[in-house]
Amino acid sequence: MLRRSTAWLEKRGIENPRFDVELLMAHALGVKRLDLYLQFDRPLEDAELASVRALVSKRGDQEPAAYLLGHKDFYSLPFAVDARVLIPRPETELLVEHAVAALEGVDAPRVADVGTGSGCIVVSVLHALPEATGVATDVSGGALTVAAANAETHGVRDRLTLLQGDALAPLEGREGVLDAVLSNPPYIVRGDPSVASDVATHEPDVALYVSGEDPNELVERIAREALPLLKAEGFVAFEVGHESAQDARARLETLGYLDVTITPDLAGIERIVAGRKPA
Ligand SMILES: C[S@@+](CC[C@H](N)C(=O)[O-])C[C@H]1O[C@@H](n2cnc3c(N)ncnc32)[C@H](O)[C@@H]1O
Repeated sequence: MLRRSTAWLEKRGIENPRFDVELLMAHALGVKRLDLYLQFDRPLEDAELASVRALVSKRGDQEPAAYLLGHKDFYSLPFAVDARVLIPRPETELLVEHAVAALEGVDAPRVADVGTGSGCIVVSVLHALPEATGVATDVSGGALTVAAANAETHGVRDRLTLLQGDALAPLEGREGVLDAVLSNPPYIVRGDPSVASDVATHEPDVALYVSGEDPNELVERIAREALPLLKAEGFVAFEVGHESAQDARARLETLGYLDVTITPDLAGIERIVAGRKPA
């Protein structure tokens, strides 16, 4: 079953088909991945075969494995995901690492996460920093429901406020209260041919695409709206798109941010852009 399903997915252009088949089979059979090998000679019941086939067939139709499994690991925590939210990506863990390192010495830090989706960024930061409190915004009510569930699962719900609205608009008027504004906003321009077809077909448009031709449209807007909300020396940190980091840095500097840094991801792509509000 492993071999045949892997070959079938490979033919359908799925990357790492063996890994996905192992995850889906283990999920369908209610066992750990390792058990597939420990029970290699166990015959499958008809019902088991049917449920494995159903999942593998959906994966063959490009449905992302994380949606089929219902969760994705991020920063060593399992996050519930469904079609209402972007699937957390490993490069976004760098944004969390940056924020946690920068906030470690701060007394009871207050953090905002704009476009929270599954809540993976803010929930991970609050989980790592037990004194921290957070506020997360999203235009999508469905995403906020998923984020609330993840915050509950990871024991940080009582330290997180979730607000529906555009960028930082829900926080308007709360001046000088935040230590950090974090965001992995949509940054893909519609029609970009590098977007994988399973991503384009299944992940929410509102999580992927900017409204026009400027990939840093939301980065600039959030950085501008963050200035009055941040404490002196508070910081912004963004995940940005491929080849957008230098432009994002220039925009943060134009807005008056200091010490603007760019951090590459494991593939060497300039990914995290961060800057500090002047004292
Ligand atoms: C790229 S996803 C990031 C989700 C999550 N933070 C992560 O890193 O996996 C962007 C999120 O921003 C939300 N969003 C898009 N436009 C927005 C806006 N103008 N204001 C607030 N949220 C927005 C989308 O609904 C989506 O959940």
